Amino acid sequence: MAQRERDPVTGRLTTGHEWDGIKELATPIPGWWITVFLISIAVALLYLWLYPSFATTKSLEPGVLGWSSRQELRDEQAMAAAAQGPLRNRLVATPLEEAGADETLRRFAQAGGRALFNENCAACHGVGGGGQQGQFPALLDDDWLWGGKQADIIQTIRHGIRNEDADSRQSAMPAFADTLSKDQIAQVTDYVLTLSDASKADSRTSLPGAAIFKENCAACHGDAGEGGRDMGGPRLNDAIWLYGGSRDAIMRQINNPRMGVMPSFATRLDEASLRMLTLYVHGLGGGE
Ligand code: HEC
Ligand code: HEC
Repeated sequence: MAQRERDPVTGRLTTGHEWDGIKELATPIPGWWITVFLISIAVALLYLWLYPSFATTKSLEPGVLGWSSRQELRDEQAMAAAAQGPLRNRLVATPLEEAGADETLRRFAQAGGRALFNENCAACHGVGGGGQQGQFPALLDDDWLWGGKQADIIQTIRHGIRNEDADSRQSAMPAFADTLSKDQIAQVTDYVLTLSDASKADSRTSLPGAAIFKENCAACHGDAGEGGRDMGGPRLNDAIWLYGGSRDAIMRQINNPRMGVMPSFATRLDEASLRMLTLYVHGLGGGE
């Protein structure tokens, strides 16, 4: 039978339960704890009342303050745009080369360009412009297919490459799978492999692939594989490869060229953004 009594040692009441002579002291939750508990319930109720928290089947009840994270973002964006307005206008009004030389404008453009790049370009060109070997070119090296001057870069970004934009960059490499035999393709591949190796400069002319290259490839890639921008033919005599420098990768390209496509950004981004991107890409390290 439960019988509450006072424990003689601590002077506290027991719960009145007893098991095999062991009794339990009654130690209630401290008053301060209960107070904090009640206050937090009150704060939670106040919060539910002020802020959006109750979802109905159609929407979220806005709460009496009418606050929303979207509105806050919109306000902040409007504020940032207002703050950037003068600089954006100046960027658009200044010729690109001069903007690149102007410390304030260049810093502003490169910071904004980095964010724009991550959003619009990094999926293909990699964060920081490192490219993806075999698919999308690196933008931070000195190897440019279409030119690394600011004017070239903005043209590439504005109109893209091999897309439906009338001004997009165009170039085509024929597929040689039909016109050259397997042996010839292997021979010209071996020749291409020697182009980036200066120590083979003398011996390579005697390779059977040399004549095949001269006849079929030099018009676009240059006699020594130095590339030709009028035809959009990439350099072949350096260690930088768009689609990979292995024997297999080169052979695959000769058989069946990849013809990478890049969308045009003229309709998606405003002029200031295009210029920011240009200065950012130009500043990645390979700008001419
Ligand atoms: C869908 C993929 C894709 C996206 C998105 C993309 N690019 Fe490209 N980009 C490519 C491909 C593919 C090439 C190479 C095409 C070729 O073979 O000439 C290229 C080439 C380039 C070049 C020329 C490089 C050279 O060597 O001349 C520049 C500059 C460039 N991109 C910048 C950008 C910027 C800046 C953005 C973002 C606004 C962007 N690209 C978005 C796929 C993409
Ligand atoms: C009409 C011009 C043209 C001719 C002719 C041509 N090419 Fe190309 N070549 C290109 C273009 C343009 C590209 C870039 C293609 C792309 O972006 O997909 C390219 C790319 C390549 C690449 C890849 C380069 C890299 O960086 O990964 C190799 C290798 C290559 N060509 C070898 C050859 C060989 C070998 C021949 C002769 C059998 C040849 N090409 C003939 C225009 C040409």
